[in-house]
Amino acid sequence: MDTITIRMPDDFHVHFREGELLRRLAYLVAQQFGRAIAMPNTLNPPIRTVDDAIPYRDEILMHSGNGFQPLMTLKLYPDTTPEVVRGAHAAGVVAVKYYPEGVTTNAEDGVSVGRLSELYPAFEAMQDIGMLLLLHGEMPGVFCLDREAAFLEVLRRLCSDFPGLKIVLEHITTAGAVEAVYTLPATVAATITLHHLELTLDDVIGDKIMPHNFCKPVVKRPQDREALCYAVTSGNPKFFFGSDSAPHPICAKECAEGCAGVFTAPVAMPRLMEFFETLGCLTKLDPFVSQFGAEFYGLPLNQGTLTLVREPWIVPVEYAGVRPYLAGRTIIWRIAE
Ligand code: DOR
Ligand code: ZN
Repeated sequence: MDTITIRMPDDFHVHFREGELLRRLAYLVAQQFGRAIAMPNTLNPPIRTVDDAIPYRDEILMHSGNGFQPLMTLKLYPDTTPEVVRGAHAAGVVAVKYYPEGVTTNAEDGVSVGRLSELYPAFEAMQDIGMLLLLHGEMPGVFCLDREAAFLEVLRRLCSDFPGLKIVLEHITTAGAVEAVYTLPATVAATITLHHLELTLDDVIGDKIMPHNFCKPVVKRPQDREALCYAVTSGNPKFFFGSDSAPHPICAKECAEGCAGVFTAPVAMPRLMEFFETLGCLTKLDPFVSQFGAEFYGLPLNQGTLTLVREPWIVPVEYAGVRPYLAGRTIIWRIAE
């Protein structure tokens, strides 16, 4: 098989950034995905209300080309009121993202887990109107490998306090998170990244320090990676693709206090093809990238298609000053022109 055509996929978690990175890199997402959830954290200032979201959507559209649809989100703040939520929803914003205070890039001003109950009126409104709550599921202050496990109790509480609220636990990394999402009601789903399917902590600090593989939540143990592989190949609709592609300039990664984020956009679909093919589960790729996420979000499936050809290429070592995932390595599949 040298050519494969699938329904146009979606990426349910992307950091488009702003300024030059947005201008020069957005096409990489648009050339392989019909829609993408645009994360609200990495702008200055972040996306707080509809008045921030709409210009940002227009800016992404300007640089991503015809036919691509950015799906907008707000970042949850102490002042995210039901009115803010309703106003954003009316303008097409699909979700609100919760970053616990201090947990990752630009989360210093996030809501602390202890004060989350103050945001219950906003969650109530979201539940009413069908807006999703996206969670960066790590508990600040806990030992880094245990942060996701510690956050699961927050997920369970939100799920029981808001039985009608759709919740996505983003970029899950552990067997415990797979198990929790699997057993919680159908209102709870999870995104899984390419890099968390492929890497363990050994690929970050097992030998030399590999800053371009450093992200949050940090990649975990082999058994966690296996649980993620099982989740995506099991065909369970609660698990769908969100790349968490997060470009940072090389100088912000290769330094004393390097930023978290793996830039997977240039290789996402080709490498996923290779990954699923190697596991002998190619039939599971299409629903993982093109169906389950759209259904969970209540979106129509994309009409278009994406064709990949078996034509090995070497991943460039740099795109606009950012080192991509698998830089310099050979990838077997390529997106057809
Ligand atoms: O690795 C990450 N990078 N994790 C996040 O949660 C944020 C992201 C970023 O914005 O760079
Ligand atoms: Zn992210």
